[in-house]
Amino acid sequence: MLYKIVQYNPTTKILIWKITESFDEFFSQVILKEKTLERLQSMKSEVHQRAFLSVRKLLQEAGHNDLQLHYDEFGKPHLENETHISITHSFDFSAIILSDENVGIDIELRREKVILIAEKFVDESEFRFLDKEKKEDYVSRLTVIWGIKEAIFKIRNEKGISFKDHIFVAPFEMKDQKTKALLTFANLNIEFDVCFEEIEDYTLVYAFQKGNQ
Ligand SMILES: CC(C)(COP(=O)(O)OP(=O)(O)OC[C@H]1O[C@@H](n2cnc3c(N)ncnc32)[C@H](O)[C@@H]1OP(=O)(O)O)[C@@H](O)C(=O)NCCC(=O)NCCS
Repeated sequence: MLYKIVQYNPTTKILIWKITESFDEFFSQVILKEKTLERLQSMKSEVHQRAFLSVRKLLQEAGHNDLQLHYDEFGKPHLENETHISITHSFDFSAIILSDENVGIDIELRREKVILIAEKFVDESEFRFLDKEKKEDYVSRLTVIWGIKEAIFKIRNEKGISFKDHIFVAPFEMKDQKTKALLTFANLNIEFDVCFEEIEDYTLVYAFQKGNQ
C-alpha cells in the first residue's frame, strides 16, 4: 500500500510503499517492458520480486511507468525526462525520490548488527559525536550514517569510493532529521544536504548534492 508521499519542495517528491501485496496483486497492476520482465523472472526470491514490483507501483503513482525507466551499465536508474530518480528497497518498504536536483535515497532496517560493522564505515570524526553507551540512539545514528553513505554513493556512482575514508557526516541528533555530509574524492569536495526519518523499524535517508560537479 502507498504509505506516504512527501512533497519536499516544488521539484522534489519522495514516495514510500509498504509492501503488503502478493506477487499476483502487484503483477496485475503494473505495466512492464520486456527487459524488466526478464529481470523479474531471473530474481530468485519472491521478496525481491515484490519489492521490485512495488517500485513500479510507486513510479505509476508519480505519473511515470516502467517504460520510461532505464538503467545504465552501473545499475543506476534514469528516467526518460530530465528528472533525477533514485530507488531503494528493504524487506517491507520501498521508496523512490524524484527531483530536479541530483538526489539519492536509501531505506534500511535498523538492526543491532550495524554495531558490529561500524568500524568499516564510520570515520573517527563521526565516532566523536556518537555515544556508544546509549544503545538505541547509537543504532539509530549508525543506521542514519550508513544510509547517508549509501545515498551519496548512489548519486556519485564512482568506483573506488570508500564509505569510511571519503564520505564524512556532520554531527547530528536524531531529532534534527537533517544534517550535512561531505564527499572528498578524486580531488573534489562535494557537499550534500541530508534528510532522515524513522519509519516503523526502518530509517529513510535522502541526500541532495550541492553544486554541479
Ligand atoms: C548499489 C548500492 C548502492 C545499492 O544499495 P542497497 O542498499 O544494496 O540496495 P537498495 O535497495 O537501497 O538500492 C537498490 C537500488 O539502487 C539502484 N542502484 C543500483 N546500482 C546503482 C548505482 N551504481 N548507482 C545508483 N543507484 C544504483 C537501483 O535502482 C537498485 O534497485 P533496482 O535495481 O531494483 O531498481 C549498493 O549495493 C552498493 O554497491 N553500495 C556500495 C557498497 C560499498 O561501497 N560499501 C562499502 C561498505 S564499507
